[in-house]
Amino acid sequence: MGATTAQKIVENGLADVVILDVREGMAQGKALDILESGPLLGFDTRIHGSGNYETIEGSSVVVVTAGFSRKPGMTRDDLLHKNGEIMIEVSRKIRQHAPDCVAIMVTNPMDLMAYMLWKVTGFPRERVIGMGGALDSSRFAYFISEETNTSVSNIQTMVMGGHGDNMVPLLEFSTIAGVSLKKVLDPATLDRLVQRTRDGGGEIVRLMKDSSAYFAPAAAIYSMIESILHDRHRIIPSSVYLEGEYGVKGVFSGVPVRIGNMGLEEVVRLPLSEDEEKSFHKSTESIRQGIETIERLFPDLGRP
Ligand code: LAC
Repeated sequence: MGATTAQKIVENGLADVVILDVREGMAQGKALDILESGPLLGFDTRIHGSGNYETIEGSSVVVVTAGFSRKPGMTRDDLLHKNGEIMIEVSRKIRQHAPDCVAIMVTNPMDLMAYMLWKVTGFPRERVIGMGGALDSSRFAYFISEETNTSVSNIQTMVMGGHGDNMVPLLEFSTIAGVSLKKVLDPATLDRLVQRTRDGGGEIVRLMKDSSAYFAPAAAIYSMIESILHDRHRIIPSSVYLEGEYGVKGVFSGVPVRIGNMGLEEVVRLPLSEDEEKSFHKSTESIRQGIETIERLFPDLGRP
């Protein structure tokens, strides 16, 4: 996922990139392989592969994809223990070597890993953003496009809540050429597409078996990085530390946020229906339980 994101960044000339992998030679090899495509594709952006955290010094954005990915039959939460340990180390290194960056968390269980990074680094909430909603919304949009035989460019979707089985695709705020989905698709079809979206990551894992998705996730990460580096103020559903927005405090969960140069600029408030609000709260409750597990497994994470 990291390498595919880096590839998109350099191919589009968005920025120079460092890719880092603790397995010696892995990142160097991938970076060199990508650089060797430069003459064919015509980019002069640079990518540097490294096994050493010092090379991230001065980075404006750091994307964390380190850790284990799901195998068939696993939920994202099953990764908490192993990836939590990795996240403590990664977060400390980010704090040490890129203290001014905007950090984008991708590793699963993403909302919980974002919480750990936020705690360990001590970064303000504006600079810790989890990638989930962008991917889930893109999957939902693709399924709608396929179902209705309509260009993806006509479809707008919004998915809130945790990046897990309880995510909340918002039907009122999802449209085809500006028309609410509910007016275009019958309830049974909508249910099916919502369910497929919730299971979107799992569907890929079941197909690929020894890997989880990375092309669409990399595109989702790219859209967030681009909004940061070009200060575009795009509204992208992402996981951020909530301080009372949508009636939720003290957890990371997916909400629509405006993203710019400084990271999170604003949590955008949508008038949710009662049902949507209930589903959102159910989703954040399961994240809250995950945080309790984190506090038990990893006491002393740093922030009071
Ligand atoms: C997915 C993983 C990246 O949804 O969470 O495919």
